[in-house]
Amino acid sequence: MSDSSYDVIVIGGGPGGYVCAIRAAQLGLKTACVESRGALGGTCLNVGCIPSKALLQSSHFYEEANEQFADHGIKFADVKLDLKTMMARKDDVVTQLTQGIEFLFKKNKVDYLKGKGSITKAELGAHEVTVKPDGKGKAQKITTKNVVIATGSEVTPLPGVEIDEKTIVSSTGALNLKKVPKSMVVIGAGVIGLEMGSVWRRLGADVTVVEYLDFILPPMDAEVRKNMQRILEKQSIKFKLGSKVTGVKAAKTGATVSVEPAAGGKAENIKADVVLIAIGRRPFTDGLGLEKTGVKVSDRGFVEVDDHFQTNVEGIFAIGDVIGGMMLAHKAEDEGVVVAESLTGLTPHINYDSIASVVYTWPEVAGVGKTEEQLKDAGIKYKSGKFPFTANSRARANGDTDGFVKILADAESDELLGCHIIGPAAGDLIMEVSVGMEFTTSAEDIGRTCHAHPQLGEAVKEAALAVHKRPIHM
Ligand code: FAD
Ligand code: NAI
Repeated sequence: MSDSSYDVIVIGGGPGGYVCAIRAAQLGLKTACVESRGALGGTCLNVGCIPSKALLQSSHFYEEANEQFADHGIKFADVKLDLKTMMARKDDVVTQLTQGIEFLFKKNKVDYLKGKGSITKAELGAHEVTVKPDGKGKAQKITTKNVVIATGSEVTPLPGVEIDEKTIVSSTGALNLKKVPKSMVVIGAGVIGLEMGSVWRRLGADVTVVEYLDFILPPMDAEVRKNMQRILEKQSIKFKLGSKVTGVKAAKTGATVSVEPAAGGKAENIKADVVLIAIGRRPFTDGLGLEKTGVKVSDRGFVEVDDHFQTNVEGIFAIGDVIGGMMLAHKAEDEGVVVAESLTGLTPHINYDSIASVVYTWPEVAGVGKTEEQLKDAGIKYKSGKFPFTANSRARANGDTDGFVKILADAESDELLGCHIIGPAAGDLIMEVSVGMEFTTSAEDIGRTCHAHPQLGEAVKEAALAVHKRPIHM
């Protein structure tokens, strides 16, 4: 049961909100978290990071069983796909993890308020949050010294196109298809498009990705983008780049996508059983009552905050996807910790340059810090060291040799400025560079650190040595 007055009420139980609530409670603040979807964990645990990674893992095993195991001398008479079991396993993983957050709330004494939260009064030291339980139940008005808005984001729609989550789907529908489509058109060659496109391609769909820009994965280093496109093409994903989607029409079976060159030219129609719309996400603030409280939002709807994540209204903070920047779960979590700690007088900081982005295709793609293009644009002199996985003994033993590690370091001080990886477990490998960047490490520091053998991580050490033109195995 909740009490009527709190130190902090967090609205939204995603990675930003639940982590903020747990940290605040650990620091002794009387804390509640309001969540309307009926389960904690937000987009990430329910319809994002976790179910997508469960399907990426299962579909990777399926493809390995079909195409790689024979090379290792493991032969099957017949590999069968049981999509129902694959989906049930994914749902089970989600349930276990979302319930795990409920357990953590109990353990840390965070009150979990089920329902839709809105800020109904903004009064310094005594803000009011109203929680309306789903459908039935009486609305509850609660006062709190501080409010943290952590309401996340939602799918950006394609104008004029209705998402039915069966034939024309967002990522949410793409995580729940009942059968493998023969053909799939993915609109948007961003992270969701490539991850979900990979899942369904591995399970048997013929996948075409239509992208407005001339390249895939817009924020990544250009060399990585180009190489990754080639690798995905080798895996039979087709790309139509520099192409604008002008409409999607559902038919009796499947849908037709109208596409024309972004620079103008002849239009064409592509038919597909399923069309996935993955053109980005936008902030979600519906029903929060921001207009009434005077909390400012940007032209694009993001809640505006200062360096301490405080909005223009004192005692009202915002974190995670709803404030924009990198739309990543771990970025939202770190912002949650910063707000909770700041409220108790601590002085935490967040360094966006050392936050890695990972794309969970196979091989994975990971990037941290600056890209070569950003360094050139900023006129920063840098050195670059690159090491391919074909020259890494563990990658050879595993049979996963696509990709490379590239390290960028300051030309004079040797300080790490960025790292870009295509490769097996790239998301794990990049973390040593993230830590290095957080502590202002040099490329030489990484190169002189003894890395266990035989490990994929030796490729990171060799790339660091390559910055000084002295790799050993190349
Ligand atoms: P959210 O997770 O969106 O949580 C906000 C919560 O607030 C929601 O549960 C919502 O129901 C609730 N809410 C909203 N309004 C109210 C209200 N008025 N009252 C009560 N509750 C409310 N990121 C990664 O880092 N790694 C990944 O691998 C990854 N994979 C992804 C895959 C997909 C398919 C998608 C869609 C996203 C993925 N992301 C990934 C992005 C990640 O999910 C988000 O960056 C992250 O969830 C943002 O956390 P958040 O707490 O800001 O918001
Ligand atoms: P995105 O921003 O990554 O990519 C969207 C792509 O769609 C861009 O390349 C854009 O140029 C293109 N596009 C936009 N309009 C278009 C149009 N009309 N026609 C053709 N192409 C068009 O967005 P995405 O993939 O939807 O993901 C949303 C967010 O979710 C990302 O910001 C990402 O941070 C997060 N996410 C993170 C994951 C991870 O960390 N592994 C996994 C999945 C999502």
